[in-house]
Amino acid sequence: MKVRKAIVPAAGFGTRFLPATKAQPKEMVTVIDKPLIQYTVEEIVGAGIRQIAVITSRGKSALEDHFDRSPELETFLEEKGKMNLLEEVRKIAGLAEFSYIRQAHMLGLGHAILMGEGFGAGEPVAALTPDDIYDCDVPCIKQLTDAFEELGGTVVVLGRVDKEGTKKYGVVKVKRQISERVFELADMVEKPGPDKAFSDLAMLGRYVFTPQIFEAIKKTPVDARGEIQITDAVRVLLDSQPVYGVLFEGKRYDCGNKLGFLEGTIALALKHPEFGGPVRKIIELLLG
Ligand code: G1P
Repeated sequence: MKVRKAIVPAAGFGTRFLPATKAQPKEMVTVIDKPLIQYTVEEIVGAGIRQIAVITSRGKSALEDHFDRSPELETFLEEKGKMNLLEEVRKIAGLAEFSYIRQAHMLGLGHAILMGEGFGAGEPVAALTPDDIYDCDVPCIKQLTDAFEELGGTVVVLGRVDKEGTKKYGVVKVKRQISERVFELADMVEKPGPDKAFSDLAMLGRYVFTPQIFEAIKKTPVDARGEIQITDAVRVLLDSQPVYGVLFEGKRYDCGNKLGFLEGTIALALKHPEFGGPVRKIIELLLG
């Protein structure tokens, strides 16, 4: 089955980013010249997916405005002859078909994805956390949809992490290796820490689910913090169908925390066609 839809959970408070996120959505924090969420949307579009549901909450209206037309701004840019900027601004609204679903209570990533049930029902659906910027030749979510279309089961993205990473991410246990980068999974635990981690393979914010994910989320018990974790829901899904992991090819920047955000900003600035050269010079000067 072809994957035509994607859910982008964007309802959280962005506590790891305070005070920057006190009065602006975390997803609108700028990396170089684009808000974080635009990187995710471009990744989705790069995989040929055009229907996107963003899970939002109070105080997130900037997200909707960003992906909408902006007639006054467009007229202004046109009158001033700023055609490149005009094209750039117009392009954003045409990237995809957007829906917005409000999550009234922030009850975890699993719960946020469940809010997309009406949107995704009966079809495979991708889910992407906008905290992560993936810089890959083949968009990360496309690496997953390709695997999904071949294997027909839920696929999660995997990356290798160090001991610290086992405290920040869901960690998996492998059942068998299918090919160089594809694994069938036996189990997974949310943020186990180094002592309880099954492996150094973590689930890093990209998923392609079979339609049964929503029933699995409903059966998933809440965790100690009162939240429904998507890692636990995928575990429930494992009782009735195989789940696969794809070790992605490319780079990932965890822009959901301050240091990862700085790393991502510097790395992407150095690669930027316009800023790469000047940024390198600035860094060299600063470092003396
Ligand atoms: C979430 C998931 C976790 C995953 C991570 C990837 O955690 O719960 O399993 O590894 O995203 O970024 P969060 O970052 O919301 O704490």
